[in-house]
Amino acid sequence: MDSPDRNIALEMVRATEAAAMSASRWMGRGDKNGVDGAAVHAMRTVLNTVRMDGVVVIGEGEKDEAPMLFNGEKLGRGGEPRVDIAVDPIDGTRLTALGLPNAVSVVAFAERGTMFNPKHIFYMDKIATGPMAADAIDINATIGDNIRAVARALGKRVEDVTVIVLDRPRHEKLIREIRDVSARIRLIMDGDVAGALATCKAGSGIDILAGIGGSPEAVITACAIKCVGGNMQCKLWPRNEEEANRCKDEGIDLNRVLMLNDLVSSDNVYFAATGVTEGDWLGGVKYVGDTIKTSSLVMRSKSGTIRYINAEHKYMKLDMLGDVNY
Ligand code: FBP
Repeated sequence: MDSPDRNIALEMVRATEAAAMSASRWMGRGDKNGVDGAAVHAMRTVLNTVRMDGVVVIGEGEKDEAPMLFNGEKLGRGGEPRVDIAVDPIDGTRLTALGLPNAVSVVAFAERGTMFNPKHIFYMDKIATGPMAADAIDINATIGDNIRAVARALGKRVEDVTVIVLDRPRHEKLIREIRDVSARIRLIMDGDVAGALATCKAGSGIDILAGIGGSPEAVITACAIKCVGGNMQCKLWPRNEEEANRCKDEGIDLNRVLMLNDLVSSDNVYFAATGVTEGDWLGGVKYVGDTIKTSSLVMRSKSGTIRYINAEHKYMKLDMLGDVNY
């Protein structure tokens, strides 16, 4: 038996806390790039202090031309461990810019070479659920069949199942099919990482996440689900014929179902998230006197440990320690 080894997620959470606090200063100002820029700078600064040889495999920004931690960027001070890094400094930049709930800062690490690289395909079709219904989902089945199977696994009536869906025109048919079986829908403006995570939290009232969202968010979500024990299946979703043709030319099979282990194959996955605005799972950043309060989730798949970290930060002291603006 190995004695307890280093849990790098406990160091990662400082990066999501910093990103959440920095971005939170931009809450409600209506400036998405301001939100993202603050979070990216804070996350990069803190991750670069961690002893590791990290490479960003899942960055973000190309799709939205937003500030980004770019794919292939090296992070850390070097040395062990050698890790793939998936970052989403803010999932829910628009939510933060508008002061709406469920924006989170997230980062995931896994052993080098174990995270799926979606390359130029920015979107995936996704279905996710929590541990109790983990074996019930099948992305190739209709949404109605999925809802019935999840209802059975959860011992619920179909009409009591709630599906969380991004509110997008592309989901018109999906929404109609969910309504046809009389299940409940929670439409969200943004943030399908927090949406998928909610399916894994007992008592959240959310049972399934379904629909098309970002590919980086899919891999990050898979890392989180590996830690909490739910399930997720995805398929690459080209936005247009040009993207579909490019996939064909590159031999990418668009019918392939990406199972949880395809999205991240490592059994030693680390995940940290900090709430930015108030959320279903995590509280948002709060200001009390000279203190900033944050609420975070820290998980590791190998041990199965889930930690909730409520931290109090003194921004006047932190501001003197570096160039991150808290
Ligand atoms: P960002 O906050 O990082 O921009 O992502 C928000 C988000 O809603 C994700 O949660 C989701 O996966 C993706 O955007 C959906 O993309 P789109 O807004 O283009 O439909």
